[in-house]
Amino acid sequence: MSIATQDINADINNIRHKTEVFPEIEKIECELHNALSDSQGAISQMCSHMAGSGGKRIRPLLVLYCGLVFSNRSESLEKAAVAAELIHMATLAHDDIIDDSQMRRGKPTLNTVWGNHSSVLCGDYLFAKAFGILSENRLYKSLSLMIEAIDCMCNGEIQQAENRFNINMNLEIYYEQITRKTAKFLECCCKSGASIANADELQTAAIGKYGLNLGLAFQIIDDILDYRGNEDIMGKPKGEDLRQGIITLPLILLQSSEKYRTAAHDIINRKTICERDYAILGDLLVNTGSIEQSHKIALSHIDKALLCLKVLPDTPYRDALSNLAEMLRFRDN
Ligand code: IPE
Ligand code: IPE
Ligand code: MG
Ligand code: MG
Repeated sequence: MSIATQDINADINNIRHKTEVFPEIEKIECELHNALSDSQGAISQMCSHMAGSGGKRIRPLLVLYCGLVFSNRSESLEKAAVAAELIHMATLAHDDIIDDSQMRRGKPTLNTVWGNHSSVLCGDYLFAKAFGILSENRLYKSLSLMIEAIDCMCNGEIQQAENRFNINMNLEIYYEQITRKTAKFLECCCKSGASIANADELQTAAIGKYGLNLGLAFQIIDDILDYRGNEDIMGKPKGEDLRQGIITLPLILLQSSEKYRTAAHDIINRKTICERDYAILGDLLVNTGSIEQSHKIALSHIDKALLCLKVLPDTPYRDALSNLAEMLRFRDN
């Protein structure tokens, strides 16, 4: 079997598996395809590459389920869901340029294939597509929530860049950073769905808190995977955070151990991290229990997220939201 055929089979299996657990993904894929169908030339190729290379579709699922828990299926919900994925794709296109990443979703990144110049523009195009969908469908509350999320994300990314190789990085700064860069977006996706379904204030607050905690757990696990994940399953390389000097939860926890703080600081202060440094730190993070402790913290956010669901109507879609959170406990990609 050629590599291309293997890739296609892997994608199909991936989508089939996801669709069995969350059947609504099929509709999202279809809407995504429609949303990008009028793109042309290189932009069209880049969009197909990104949309066709999988992805968990967590954000559009959150928009959909957070609406369906309160109301019937509607075109507005589907449009808001696809807008969330388009925005996510835009941020990934830009993030991979900023991080100089080579692989994403098991495929070469847009910047690797088409270069930074075209990839920046593709990201902008995807943002524009998303805003177009939200404004054409008069989904103004969703529009303002997406703007809020992007605003936060930009500030979180800048804060992260400012704290590169900062050995004084602490829990407070880390939480602020991951809230801004990741968790707020998930919170806003949840609120976007709930707003379309006319949820009341109390329920919207609960569903937002669910999304926020899910987002915190999501990013903490992403940060753990950067040390301990399987690259083939993740579809992106490990060690990127440390290479860029991004100090994440496992490393912050390690520094609370006086015995290993100096060793960690020596490596961080070198600023050019070699394979050996990464391996030494990785072992230290495991042996000191920093990885395990980080995972426990992630799980505690999943528990908090699940608690928030209790005030929502008891429907199959509340169960779907609960399943999404439960599956995150075993996130490996
Ligand atoms: C990647 O998001 C960026 C982070 C916030 C860690 P996802 O892990 O949801 O990426 P895809 O969409 O599944 O590829
Ligand atoms: C991505 O964070 C968050 C965004 C705002 C896109 P990361 O840089 O950790 O995500 P990955 O690891 O590249 O997916
Ligand atoms: Mg990145
Ligand atoms: Mg990461």
